[in-house]
Amino acid sequence: MGLTIVSHPLVQHKLTMMRRKETSTAEFRQLVRETAFLLGYEVTRDLELETVHIETPMEEMEAPMLKGKKLVLASILRAGEGLLFGMLDLLPSARVCHIGLYRDHNTLEAVEYYFKAPEDISERLVIVVDPMLATGNSAVKAIDQLKKHGAKQIRFVCILSVEQGIKQLQKAHPDVDIFTASVDRALDPASYILPGLGDAGDRMFGTK
Ligand code: URA
Repeated sequence: MGLTIVSHPLVQHKLTMMRRKETSTAEFRQLVRETAFLLGYEVTRDLELETVHIETPMEEMEAPMLKGKKLVLASILRAGEGLLFGMLDLLPSARVCHIGLYRDHNTLEAVEYYFKAPEDISERLVIVVDPMLATGNSAVKAIDQLKKHGAKQIRFVCILSVEQGIKQLQKAHPDVDIFTASVDRALDPASYILPGLGDAGDRMFGTK
């Protein structure tokens, strides 16, 4: 799979609304949640099914259900939270991992300040969510930590990405498939995505 660009018209329409600078905090947060739901649909497209025996009100049947343990959604704080709750709408039984990272403004390196994951993470598919794949530093660091805690099967979902971040993530973690709604043009000198949508956390939570 490698890189999947989710070109579904609803995703692209919502992305344009998120990019607009006049979109309000409340609208932005709602759009992130709706987009997460749609991206979640794509990232789970190939989940394995098993057949179970059930009874409908009419008769018995063999019917498909998801096989194995529930997923883990790993949210990179804080902007990951917007995507997390949209995905939980779709996958309400998923377990949740939180990874706290901040960007050192001098080195642009991701520094960890928090990590909490379910104990049996090694037995579950882990879907990492972070709206912006910019330098790739946060994604690489988060996935380093997940692997250190035993995660074996990992996918990465973002709304926007740039080639630099994709390359950095693929180089560090070639086993991790990436799902994004767009690969944008470039990074600015402060590592913001162009044309982008600005600071995803600020736009989601109304901070500056
Ligand atoms: N993080 C953001 O919130 N926005 C960008 O453009 C890049 C990283």
